[in-house]
Amino acid sequence: MDIDNTLLLPNSEHKSDIKTPFLIGVAGGTASGKSTVCKKIMIQLGQADMDQAQRQVVSISQDSFYRELTPAEKAKAKKGLFNFDHPDAFNENLMYDTLQEILKGRIVKVPCYDYRSNSLDHENKLTIYPADVVLFEGILVFYFPKIRDLFHMKLFVDTDSDTRLARRVPRDINERGRDLDAVLTQYMTFVKPAFEEFCSPTKKFADVIIPRGADNTVAIDLIVHHIGEILRPGGSTNNLNAYSSVHTAINN
Ligand code: CTP
Repeated sequence: MDIDNTLLLPNSEHKSDIKTPFLIGVAGGTASGKSTVCKKIMIQLGQADMDQAQRQVVSISQDSFYRELTPAEKAKAKKGLFNFDHPDAFNENLMYDTLQEILKGRIVKVPCYDYRSNSLDHENKLTIYPADVVLFEGILVFYFPKIRDLFHMKLFVDTDSDTRLARRVPRDINERGRDLDAVLTQYMTFVKPAFEEFCSPTKKFADVIIPRGADNTVAIDLIVHHIGEILRPGGSTNNLNAYSSVHTAINN
């Protein structure tokens, strides 16, 4: 198994009261606003009148599951010649195993991703405690069937490709240390074709498609309301049944 077991600590304190998080997948093309949608959902859920222990809502990026590159691949990546938008760029097994651990109510540590060095930042890890809601966002979170099946709710952030490109270019230059030539080469060679081949077709798996991304406050309000109903003790029976049956399947 690829997973680093040192990162997975059984949450013994909560053994008798293991929380199984409500796992939400958030897919969408690059720079579609996935992170902002997650942030807005987190803020709105956090504002609910909940007990402190019930308040945890956490968001994880699929980028934390990029596989480590060889020196030759790193050299290519520096010139925008590595395909970070292909499913093979990700460590599928580690992603699956980590989500399984999260669903079992275990504490997991996930490395952040350093886009400047194109590598995982193991010094800088996010600790995921058993939470009520875990959001998992990324371009290909619905691509891998085994992983797709773990989500209790699937959202697809659907933003026009010209808007996404207009956001991506300055972001990559200002925040990810890239130059314009490399950004455009990478976009035309890999990002756009991979979006069409691997990401866009996964829209059909979504429960909710969010047009215009994070600007769509009506959609976000509706989603937050729905999550609130599912998590509310004595909330919507149908939803709770659906939620429990997924849990049963995972826990068995
Ligand atoms: N990527 C990159 N270099 C790396 C790793 C990833 O350029 N070393 C790029 C990939 O080309 C991919 C993108 O990062 O298209 C994935 O991140 P993206 O979805 O754009 O970032 P988020 O902030 O999650 O997206 P959003 O703006 O939707 O919140």
